[in-house]
Amino acid sequence: MAKILAIESSCDETAAAVVEDGTKVLSNIINSQAKLHKKYGGVVPEVASRLHAEVIDSVVKEALKTANCTLDEIDAVAVTYAPGLIGSLLVGLSYAKALAHGANKPLIAVHHIEGHICANYLSGLTPPFVSLVASGGHSHIIYVPDYRKYKVLGKTRDDAAGEAFDKVARVLGLGYPGGPSIDKAAKMGKNRIPITKPKFHEETLDFSFSGIKTAIINYCHNAEQKGEEINVSDVAMSFQDTVVEILTDNTFKGVKQAGVKKVCLAGGVASNSKLRESFKQRAQEEGVEFFCPELIFCTDNAVMIGAAAYHYYLRKEFSGLDLNAMAFVPIED
Ligand code: KG4
Ligand code: ZN
Repeated sequence: MAKILAIESSCDETAAAVVEDGTKVLSNIINSQAKLHKKYGGVVPEVASRLHAEVIDSVVKEALKTANCTLDEIDAVAVTYAPGLIGSLLVGLSYAKALAHGANKPLIAVHHIEGHICANYLSGLTPPFVSLVASGGHSHIIYVPDYRKYKVLGKTRDDAAGEAFDKVARVLGLGYPGGPSIDKAAKMGKNRIPITKPKFHEETLDFSFSGIKTAIINYCHNAEQKGEEINVSDVAMSFQDTVVEILTDNTFKGVKQAGVKKVCLAGGVASNSKLRESFKQRAQEEGVEFFCPELIFCTDNAVMIGAAAYHYYLRKEFSGLDLNAMAFVPIED
């Protein structure tokens, strides 16, 4: 039995969790700064790192207390080292290093995207499979042949899917983070605004969302100039449907290409109700098993870091105190 204390602070959530054997959640503490960043329309990096520094100690202590265990009973300390906002990452990483060193516990470095993917292990997923990772900073289709092995089959050439949701939401006056509000608004809308999809989707598994975002912005500006009222729900649904179709089509092409029979969703955008529904339906049609994390494990959390770290723990793949935080690191080695 292994109890891992996991820490995540790559963006605007300070999170800590205790996870047993990679799948049993003993605690899951998330301190979100979203409300504070809302007034700026997005995450302000300096504010984020300062807030992480203020709460990290109490978040970690609460994770241990909720799990009903002491630091002594922990087998390893895991932490997100990359990618993300460097100032934010450094807070979690420095704390984890000090804690591991002081308590003489092994330190495990986890890639944030890997963490998002491994959130699916809590739902019983095992490799090989293909994962769509769609978050505020990433849109990747990744083939996972085995634990800790990742091959990128396709990725965004410009904006991440979540970033497009956030930008379109801002244009529609829906505020930050945009994904949940677009998801909600789209439920009452009609898909009636034609949006051209980028051509290269037919040839590669790569994505591009910036043209779709611009098409929506232009539509809103044109309507404004003509003095026409914008139906926010219709715009939200037309945008969401287009993005969901592209994400679904490309990922399932990836599933065929990799020759696997399992597919999963990961990252903040995996909470999107239309995307979950679309994947579920396509998986059924194609005889593929579909997995997605519980909603609380889609957006940033430390449980997913603990789930990923377990497979490094089993293989004794530990990091030294020279481990550094990095803003950009590809998931493939
Ligand atoms: O994984 P995450 O919490 O942080 C990053 O690693 O970026 O993802 C945050 C992103 C934001 O862009 C947010 O708008 C998006 O996930 N998101 C959603 C939904 N919930 C969160 N996008 C679409 N539909 C949702 N329901
Ligand atoms: Zn994330």
